Amino acid sequence: MDFAFTEEQLMIKQTAKDFAESEIAPSAVERDIKAEFPYEIVKKMGELGFMGMMVPPEWGGAGMDTISYVLAMEEISKVDASVGVIMSVNNSLVCYGLNDYGTNEQKEKYLKPLAQGNLLGAFALSEPEAGSDATNQHTTADKDGDDWILDGTKNWITNGQTANVFLIVAQTNRELRHKGISTFIVDKGTPGFEHGKKEDKLGIRSSDTCSLSFTNCRVPNANLIGGEGKGFNFAMNTLNGGRIGIAAQALGIAQASLEASLKYAKERKAFDKPIANLQAIQFKLADMSTKIEAARLLTLNAASLKDKNENYIQASAMAKLYASRVAMECADEAIQIHGGYGYVREYLVERYLRDAKITEIYEGTSEIQRIVIARSLLQ
Ligand code: CAA
Repeated sequence: MDFAFTEEQLMIKQTAKDFAESEIAPSAVERDIKAEFPYEIVKKMGELGFMGMMVPPEWGGAGMDTISYVLAMEEISKVDASVGVIMSVNNSLVCYGLNDYGTNEQKEKYLKPLAQGNLLGAFALSEPEAGSDATNQHTTADKDGDDWILDGTKNWITNGQTANVFLIVAQTNRELRHKGISTFIVDKGTPGFEHGKKEDKLGIRSSDTCSLSFTNCRVPNANLIGGEGKGFNFAMNTLNGGRIGIAAQALGIAQASLEASLKYAKERKAFDKPIANLQAIQFKLADMSTKIEAARLLTLNAASLKDKNENYIQASAMAKLYASRVAMECADEAIQIHGGYGYVREYLVERYLRDAKITEIYEGTSEIQRIVIARSLLQ
């Protein structure tokens, strides 16, 4: 493994850092409190190429590698993990899927504007009874002439109220179980397609999460992506890459927790000296930093395997499993180091803990990551 970054990768990291500090940070606290979607920020990220980072330039993207994506995701999420997940879903779950599985017509119509940041995407696999048990799809799509008729409900959809383009996983042949699942591109505003109310969440409050419902919703066959019966394969492969994005998001939260703790430990005095002089605090900082470095290496390893077109299923599950735990532990320790100040909004670290929790849940819970890892080991 060689993670000597290229000049281009370092430039992307710096651009993301500058953008996050100047454009995202000033409104992060208020957007968290009010649960407000960052419309202007997402628009500017599109202009900078951050919404379609790995999409080839011919399809409107920035043509960058997964390592660059990880570096940018960490910097953005370090400042605001809500913006991180909006970026991650558009890049990893929507653009990736369209680029790998879409027809040229689908790429022209949907991928180009999504990668350029002119449209926003959402990915809908989860349902009320299909979370971890993702093959248990109840949303159905029945063939009717040249169209498909979608009926059912999707849950916990990131960008659900805001997106213009949705990738919807549905059962097209129940008897075939997961081999009878297909994925469809559905435009916002299609008759029969509604979204539910915005969920009032513990963390990543500035991102928008809601349910979707389909009632006799007609979608043309041209919007079937990857072929009939290939939808579960599409979802699993898309999530393998998505997990690298969420690992990078978790890494950003962990790094923010460490940086806030280092600053506070040098400023805060107790027993007549900065608390950074106390071994109890030093041990916490040392452990946080060591775990973050390990999580970063796992995440970069998964990204590097993906860039080399090698199997990265196990590596991405390991990266997400470990980085999400490290985010939780570092945010928790950051609050402990801050004492009472860590428990109030003014010092940001309480948000890091609230934001960290979801990284152990979405795009496959930690338990699912362990299943994926164990199955790879036992193959
Ligand atoms: N990569 C590629 N293929 C995979 C895979 C992976 N990681 N995991 C499973 N598969 C394939 C299997 O090889 C199998 O294919 P074949 O039949 O062609 O051989 C098929 O999928 C079914 O697999 P299993 O027989 O193992 O099915 P299972 O029901 O026992 O387990 C599971 C499947 C791994 C548990 C799967 O259901 C899963 O990953 N669940 C978690 C779903 C998830 O991550 N949801 C996140 C929602 S999206 C989200 O959060 C987005 C957001 O908005 C932020």
